[in-house]
Amino acid sequence: MKKVLLTGGMGFLGSHVLEGILKQTDWQVVILDRLDTSGNPKRLSDILVWEKEKHRVKIVWWDLKSSLNDRISTDIGEVDYIWHLAASSHVDRSIEDPLSFVMDNVVGTTNLLEFSRKLKNLELFINFSTDEVFGPAEKGYAHNEDDKHRPSNPYSASKSAAVDIGYSFHKTYSLPIITTHTMNIYGEKQSPEKLIPKCIRMVQQQKPMPIFAELKDGKMTAVGSRFWIHAREVFNALLFITNKGKIGEFYNIIGFDEFTNLEICQMVASVIGKPLIPDFVDFHSSRPGHDIRYALDGTKLKELGWSPSLPFKESLSKTVLWTINNPYWL
Ligand SMILES: NC(=O)c1ccc[n+]([C@@H]2O[C@H](COP(=O)([O-])OP(=O)(O)OC[C@H]3O[C@@H](n4cnc5c(N)ncnc54)[C@H](O)[C@@H]3O)[C@@H](O)[C@H]2O)c1
Repeated sequence: MKKVLLTGGMGFLGSHVLEGILKQTDWQVVILDRLDTSGNPKRLSDILVWEKEKHRVKIVWWDLKSSLNDRISTDIGEVDYIWHLAASSHVDRSIEDPLSFVMDNVVGTTNLLEFSRKLKNLELFINFSTDEVFGPAEKGYAHNEDDKHRPSNPYSASKSAAVDIGYSFHKTYSLPIITTHTMNIYGEKQSPEKLIPKCIRMVQQQKPMPIFAELKDGKMTAVGSRFWIHAREVFNALLFITNKGKIGEFYNIIGFDEFTNLEICQMVASVIGKPLIPDFVDFHSSRPGHDIRYALDGTKLKELGWSPSLPFKESLSKTVLWTINNPYWL
């Protein structure tokens, strides 16, 4: 039976990944999390199979900004896999406080890599990153795994540095690292500051929803757009990569379709059955460091045999309806 160390397991994505592990594998799981403002243990007790499967989960409270001492290393024990998801990830907060992002994402990742070097049975360390490391993508272009990093803000720069330091541990110490890049993730239990939960709130309360756009002479010329993937799909991809991925490689994990933020909010409004009141905000002046478009090319993982399978519109409407019925997460 395999054992995985899942960092950031109390976060939005981590809790979906944990649910996938508990439902689809017989692995033991050690969650390492510091339970900051975005980590929330309720995400675990909300997992449907939690009561039945929680005996397979051990929770270790630790802040990765500190190196993992002997006590914590013994608490975690030997593991076969590390899926490293813990990170500070809110772009606006990184702009206000860049150093804390360097500490969490660069120093934090390095501390975990240092711990990994001492493990005897480690087969795989997945260093989980984002499309934002590549910076904005021109219309019609999708970044492939080998493209140059051009991060535009301290969050994406810290993730980019974490990718490099991870890869350097593969080259220098032969650590079994695979690096992944993922686009915008959505799903149940996401932090209320993110686009979809925020839009649900604004539409329910019939308040204007800020939509970031390019405005020229007061006219809208482009709206921010992203590709979207459900958190459950990300778990499916991580499991696939664990079984089939090649050590030292980089893989883009992509969702189905590209949508503008306006289209996403219109879809959310139509599920709720109330009109959207868009408030177009010029992203150049209001959000320096934010990029208008991100896009990833998923050919490499497709050729290896993985493609997303959840139809977007159906899973978006399920997410919206679930969130309305569970207003704690709004
Ligand atoms: N949400 C997205 O759209 C998206 C897209 C691409 C990549 N990612 C990446 O996915 C991962 C998870 O993102 P999320 O949306 O679930 O974020 P989240 O904020 O919901 O969860 C992050 C978790 O990591 C923990 N954490 C943060 N810093 C830590 C530290 N120093 N030590 C220990 N624990 C720490 C937090 O307590 C939290 O539980 C991150 O690596 C993020 O960069 C997210």
